[in-house]
Amino acid sequence: MVITIDGPSGVGKSTVTRAVAAEYGFDFLDTGAMYRAATVAALEAGVPLDDSQAVADVVLKSDIRYVDGAILLDGRDVSDAVRADEVTGAVSAVSAIPEVRHRLVGFQREWVVKRNGNAVVEGRDIGTVVFPDAEAKIFLTARPEVRSARRAGDAEAANLSTHAIETKLRERDFRDSTRAISPLHAAEDAVVIDTSDLSLAEVVSRVLEVVAASRC
Ligand code: DC
Repeated sequence: MVITIDGPSGVGKSTVTRAVAAEYGFDFLDTGAMYRAATVAALEAGVPLDDSQAVADVVLKSDIRYVDGAILLDGRDVSDAVRADEVTGAVSAVSAIPEVRHRLVGFQREWVVKRNGNAVVEGRDIGTVVFPDAEAKIFLTARPEVRSARRAGDAEAANLSTHAIETKLRERDFRDSTRAISPLHAAEDAVVIDTSDLSLAEVVSRVLEVVAASRC
């Protein structure tokens, strides 16, 4: 079965995804890491990010793979590079390009097929666009101040002030939820869980309840 976990950044998606995957013995796919790797490719090629065609050309020539929790760009492990502040600042522009999304969505579907359709996949449009027929769909949310505080604990935000983290989060949310293609929103049949006042264990246990209910 495919379990989709969508939501904005700072809601705990990655941690919850890994815990749920471990519970079922499934592999997990971090689709945000794929958009970040596409962004690394564009930045390294030095193409202007507002030139959608040039960015798309670079991405279509790149080999982006997600293997055992690591993200590979043309065979090179870029798991650390994709977390750089420069990449976080540029990824919304790259992920709004239709050709880029089309390519990466194709990779994501193939990745799940190779696992016989058993996987936990996290992102922004997984329940709405990539796997609209997934058996269990979760959409995680949290209050903005809680999300900023959580981001402050991430390595990529280590050198940023609280104000800078909040501003960047708000800007990225705006771009991700207002873009023309696959904007961030909950699927109609997703179960929305507000993680603001829940521990990780509580969120995981709610997600497992949703998955168990969907299997009945
Ligand atoms: O989850 P993350 O912060 O690593 O994602 C990085 C960016 O990638 C995010 O700003 C939006 C984009 N993204 C997307 O457009 N679609 C996805 N399925 C996953 C991420």
